[in-house]
Amino acid sequence: MAQAQRKILVTSALPYANGSIHLGHMLEHIQTDIWVRFQKLRGHLCTAVCADDAHGTAIMLKAENNGQTPEQLIDEVRQEHMADFADFMIGYDNYHSTHSEENRELSSHIYKTLRDNDKIAVRSIVQAYDPEKEMFLADRFIKGTCPKCKAEEQYGDNCEVCSATYTAMEMINPVSVYSGATPIEKESKHYFFKLPEFQQFLTEWTRSGTLQEQVANKLAEWLDSGLQEWDISRDAPYFGFEIPDAPGKYFYVWLDAPIGYMASFKNLCDRKPDLQFDDYWGKDADSELYHFIGKDIINFHALFWPAMLECAGYRTPTGVNAHGYVTVDGKKMSKSRGTFIKARTYLNHLDPQYLRYYFAAKLNSTPDDIDLNLADFIQRVNSDVIGKVVNIASRTASFINKKFDNQLFATPIEQDMIQSFIDAGDTIADCFEQREYGKAIREIMRLADIANTYIADKAPWVLAKDDATLPQVQEVCSVALNLFAILATYLKPILPAMVADAEAFLGKELTWDNRTELLFGRTVNKFVPLMARIEQKQVDAIIQEAKEEHEQAHAAAQEPQAADIEPIAPEINFDDFAKVDLRVALIVKAEHVEKANKLLKLTLDIGAEQRVVFSGIKSAYKPEDLTGKLTIMVANLAPRKMKFGVSEGMVLAAGPGGEDIWLLEPHAGAKPGMRVM
Ligand code: 2FM
Ligand code: ZN
Repeated sequence: MAQAQRKILVTSALPYANGSIHLGHMLEHIQTDIWVRFQKLRGHLCTAVCADDAHGTAIMLKAENNGQTPEQLIDEVRQEHMADFADFMIGYDNYHSTHSEENRELSSHIYKTLRDNDKIAVRSIVQAYDPEKEMFLADRFIKGTCPKCKAEEQYGDNCEVCSATYTAMEMINPVSVYSGATPIEKESKHYFFKLPEFQQFLTEWTRSGTLQEQVANKLAEWLDSGLQEWDISRDAPYFGFEIPDAPGKYFYVWLDAPIGYMASFKNLCDRKPDLQFDDYWGKDADSELYHFIGKDIINFHALFWPAMLECAGYRTPTGVNAHGYVTVDGKKMSKSRGTFIKARTYLNHLDPQYLRYYFAAKLNSTPDDIDLNLADFIQRVNSDVIGKVVNIASRTASFINKKFDNQLFATPIEQDMIQSFIDAGDTIADCFEQREYGKAIREIMRLADIANTYIADKAPWVLAKDDATLPQVQEVCSVALNLFAILATYLKPILPAMVADAEAFLGKELTWDNRTELLFGRTVNKFVPLMARIEQKQVDAIIQEAKEEHEQAHAAAQEPQAADIEPIAPEINFDDFAKVDLRVALIVKAEHVEKANKLLKLTLDIGAEQRVVFSGIKSAYKPEDLTGKLTIMVANLAPRKMKFGVSEGMVLAAGPGGEDIWLLEPHAGAKPGMRVM
């Protein structure tokens, strides 16, 4: 029975307007788009909006670096993002910007309501300030030496070597990463949202079925440990909206970002008279509201956001759906390995539908990470989409075109089998609804196998050779094309372009409900190949291009800048140098160190003995890639006690940091323990 028409508003997290869309973003936008297309296909009134998240310090400084105004930067980036989404067949009904009049008005209105309900506190806080750049500095923009263990180049709130916590100003020689100036302390007035007053409301709301179980459990831990007031203001200079009653103070980017969902929808309503803003955001709205987000931004969407909406008199979300991160071949996406792939780089080589299919096949309703295994990607798409589904049509369509003048068999046959395909639609619909896309695909492929077995058993290519059996070819191919049409309907949210071509061939617009209307006694159009196989070389070309992009960006950043090069240390004589005992070391074991952000624990064989060394190379190496490698160590360095244990020496590595740290590797013939000079 057809369901009553639902009114649904769906959002994806708003991408920052200072970087390109990559495959990590794409997982979310594909997940959202499949859900939205599914709802529309079922006949519901489903609207999807998104926008660029255009405010904040990072965007302001990037524009300054580029010699642009922030407005120029965010316009350029928004155009790029919109083109990437369109080319990935992500069909937002509106793609707006948080730097918009609608958002300014809604943000001001919501803020004023919170203030008038006595939910805003104002007090002075002391923060680090860059006197040269004349701006306040968040901790992550200050570097210095750890006051406890003296490790250099630590960021402003905790030491990654000894895990000490401190304020940025307690560091030795703190410097602003922007200007290199020594920060001073400065007091200023900040505005806080009184989140603790929503403890009761949030405890209930987070348990009301709006969140995934894992997410609700995580939030319960935060709620139990007590909520803090949320600092929603930033001082000038800041790219954002000035707070209405506070000149020189701006809304923190995360205050107006989710309001950007409302603003994008408002902007759409102003163009679409059949959409009423209050029907979707009013306190008693009878519509549904879903946010698709990554698991890293749950606190913003499941604590601050519902509390703000509740207080300001709006409805709260029906569901907040968190997904996990994308890994490539089991590892974090990496620029140097070429697995940090921009949407555009992918599009330069492959049909977006392949990735839509693969992500769908892997997606479920949990926030677990999704691995894009490149070999499996090629194999799976080729075998399922081309080998199973497209194949049903390509093995049968040409007979109808060529031997029967496009005419399908006159009367329905094989009705039980066809009916079983129709009936499976209810289970498949439940899977899509629950975001269990992987399960939906398994069911669709089970049916595709049945269809292919039917065709193989009947072998129309054999029947076609004999005039006596030729009429049966029309029957078999007509049945096959009916099965294909039903499967194409189920795949339409995932493979919209392939199915649009299938619809053109079948001469029928496929909807969930009309899958019961069989295709007999009518004609089809000329069949055109629907999709080609993925070739290994196309995937290789993506990785190669991603690597080249990284190398170019890196080379540009590495252009020698006199100021970047550290001065040469005071001269030493040969005897001083000869004191350093460098040895070839075999890495027998490499392990993660619990709670250490930068360190790996290495067990080194230097011939006569084994040493344990803690090395700050975690950002560049995975332990499993290091085991068995040779490197060079300083073998006579005095043991150093660190938080995680004693480090008995040091390995030699060079590079600017992050993924770009290279451990020195001697020639493969070197033997552990050999002295290096
Ligand atoms: O984490 C991010 O990329 C943010 N730009 C997401 C914002 S989502 C919403 F709240 F606007
Ligand atoms: Zn330290």
